[in-house]
Amino acid sequence: MATQTGKMPVSRFLKEQRMELPFPSTPLDGKTVLITGANSGVGLEAARHCVRLNAENLIITTRTIAKGEAAKENLLKSNPESKTNISVYTANYSSFASIKAFADKLVSEVPKLDIVILNAGINSREWNVTEDGWEEVLQVNVLSTVYLSLLLLPKIRESYDASASLMPTLVIVTSDTHYWASFKQRSQADEKLGILNAMNTESVSSNSDKYFMSKLLEIYFLRELAKWVDRNYNGEVVVTGVNPGLCHSELVRETGLVKMFVDGFKWVLARTAEVGSRNYIWAATAGKQAHGQYVGSCEVQKAAVVVTSEEGQKLGLKVYEEIGEVVTGIDERVKVFFQ
Ligand SMILES: NC(=O)c1ccc[n+]([C@@H]2O[C@H](COP(=O)([O-])OP(=O)(O)OC[C@H]3O[C@@H](n4cnc5c(N)ncnc54)[C@H](OP(=O)(O)O)[C@@H]3O)[C@@H](O)[C@H]2O)c1
Repeated sequence: MATQTGKMPVSRFLKEQRMELPFPSTPLDGKTVLITGANSGVGLEAARHCVRLNAENLIITTRTIAKGEAAKENLLKSNPESKTNISVYTANYSSFASIKAFADKLVSEVPKLDIVILNAGINSREWNVTEDGWEEVLQVNVLSTVYLSLLLLPKIRESYDASASLMPTLVIVTSDTHYWASFKQRSQADEKLGILNAMNTESVSSNSDKYFMSKLLEIYFLRELAKWVDRNYNGEVVVTGVNPGLCHSELVRETGLVKMFVDGFKWVLARTAEVGSRNYIWAATAGKQAHGQYVGSCEVQKAAVVVTSEEGQKLGLKVYEEIGEVVTGIDERVKVFFQ
């Protein structure tokens, strides 16, 4: 399904929200799956599918051990017969040090990683700055997601087995809201400030647009990373982006009128988190067809024109380079992904 305009038509959005999505049935026997931000919402429901589908190991991350243990108990309660071994790790996406500590620990402790679903994310209209000096939505949804994906990619690749039915897969959770990003910072593409710095400057950024922008930047990144994987890893890892659709979850933590509006909108249109999570499992098991693609409603879809157009391709490269400068500045080990 494609849209020829930059924005997704409302009619298509409404149709998709009501669509029946296939219940996941691909067995995950023998697989080790990581899902970040799995204590609530769509991540928790994706974790529940993984347990039901018999993943050998499920690793979940949460911000605190207590949240993780509660999620583990919740998952085991709904699948009492499950043989899945569930491990809890902590990772705080608002801190690069926390991402590094988590990734290094994980890579040294687990024998393999077959499927990684980077789901943790926030949607906040407040201007908050992290300990690393980045606007929080930008750091959590984009910079930390990117940094973590690059620290884990070599480990994911180790799972490649030409004879296996499932490809090692990195899934980045994005959103159909990327179609709505105004991308005011586009004019910064050729200027000194750059796109990321513009998004990190309160007077230039927009609190109502920054979540949409963060989801757009994830798509630019994963498309370029998929090309890098083809050049350097013989395409031995699938890199894909998935949209769960508008779902009931804890994502919008606003109060007052904004909350009332969002709650009303969701009451009429939202999928359950479980239905949204079917997209994650579809993307994680779709193989090559999803590589470098944007997945929604359990199919490969066309991302916004601002991504796929000629200008979009140039912007994608620019975003990838800018992200590269930031994450290479944090950790020299990821430099290889930008060469
Ligand atoms: N729900 C939707 O309509 C919708 C639509 C499109 C895309 N998405 C995407 O789906 C993903 C999951 O969202 P959701 O709707 O399921 O919302 P959610 O219930 O709020 O789940 C978000 C998860 O991310 C975690 N998280 C937030 N900030 C974090 C941080 N700084 N460090 C580590 N973890 C952090 C949360 O942990 P805490 O509980 O500790 O905050 C929670 O586990 C997000 O990437 C979101 O952008 C959602």
